Amino acid sequence: MITAVDVIRTKRDGGELSTDQIDWVIDGYTRGEVADEQMSALAMAIFLNGASPREIADWTAAMIRSGLTLDLSGVGRPCVDKHSTGGVGDKITLPLAPLVAVFGVAVPQLSGRGLGHTGGTLDKLESIPGFDVNLDEAGIVAQLKEVGAVVCAATGDLAPADRKLYALRDTTSTVESIPLIASSIMSKKIAEGADAIVLDVKVGSGAFMKDFDRAKELAETMVRLGGAHGVDTRALLTDMSVPLGRTAGNALEVRESLEVLAGGGPSDVVELTVALAREMLDAAGRPGLDPAAALADGRAMDSWRKMIAAQGGDVDAPLPTARHTEEITAETGGFVVDMDAYAVGVAAWRLGAGRTRQGQSVQAGAGVEILKAVGERVEVGEPVLRLHTDTPERIEAAKETLRGRWSVGAEPVERGPIVLDRLG
Ligand code: URA
Repeated sequence: MITAVDVIRTKRDGGELSTDQIDWVIDGYTRGEVADEQMSALAMAIFLNGASPREIADWTAAMIRSGLTLDLSGVGRPCVDKHSTGGVGDKITLPLAPLVAVFGVAVPQLSGRGLGHTGGTLDKLESIPGFDVNLDEAGIVAQLKEVGAVVCAATGDLAPADRKLYALRDTTSTVESIPLIASSIMSKKIAEGADAIVLDVKVGSGAFMKDFDRAKELAETMVRLGGAHGVDTRALLTDMSVPLGRTAGNALEVRESLEVLAGGGPSDVVELTVALAREMLDAAGRPGLDPAAALADGRAMDSWRKMIAAQGGDVDAPLPTARHTEEITAETGGFVVDMDAYAVGVAAWRLGAGRTRQGQSVQAGAGVEILKAVGERVEVGEPVLRLHTDTPERIEAAKETLRGRWSVGAEPVERGPIVLDRLG
């Protein structure tokens, strides 16, 4: 007979859990028979002692089986999903999903909300008046057939074990564990039923994985899990030491995505959008296409307008703006040499772009705008950052977060490449 106490003890003492033990504990936890405190202890034991590739595979399979799997067979086009491990200013899903759809590939993006310093795609899209993130399976399939791209909330019956476990990990300091992150992400992605998955694994101060070797191990683990479930899975390791683009915050990021869809926008956002689009098209069996051309000639923008309108959004409505802004200026002249992604993410969150508890509402207009990015020249007294919020009493805390976290030097620095490595 399996008991929760035995399962916890095995892992606490550095042992390996059997397939039966893993199936039992995930099933029991989903049904409420394994208590939160028992799962917390087990998650901490896994956090501290790790898990073998076989245990991670079994854990992932059990979490997939905890709920339903989407059936996308009726879509009639190859379905490719993208997932980012989360970063600051990471708005890539917004231009990417409609861009890939231009080429006849369906992109089901079941996304989340922001928690902590990383923003959530659903919060960003909800700053568009009328946009509805709640679709059921039939709605998702219909929109993929008609438009080719959908960005919506994961339906409650996909990997419910992960939903419970993720909330528990968030409150027990057990998030940053490779076995737990890999199984969490891949159980949801595999349950979404896509033919292929392209992972954007972030590395650097604004990411869960701060160093390259750990990020690579996470990417390898996820690519292996996808392959074991017959899903073509690839990963790009990408830089998250400085924020992506020039904005962090919901409506601010939508505005920047619109610039990219109109053929402009910051070069790092464009570069990463195009790199991920190429990888997704290749995974869909359509190699050698030129996604950059579809950004330049308006096809991606047309596709975006169709996607937003299909989900009730008013594509022509002005985006919300914050009631107060304040600029932070340079005390010395020179070149911006550093801009810490984590600090910018926390500042945006403190200004009201993010939440401290599940279920809280966010300010659509709040966030941080980077007026001078790394490598750019700045004169004494010129603004470097602009803070946006509806609640000016939050500005001091945001400024405090950013103090000493960006710097100006005498010599220009070149920002390194965005894509650091590729796997799969
Ligand atoms: N994103 C997830 O979905 N799960 C994790 O564990 C971490 C990031």
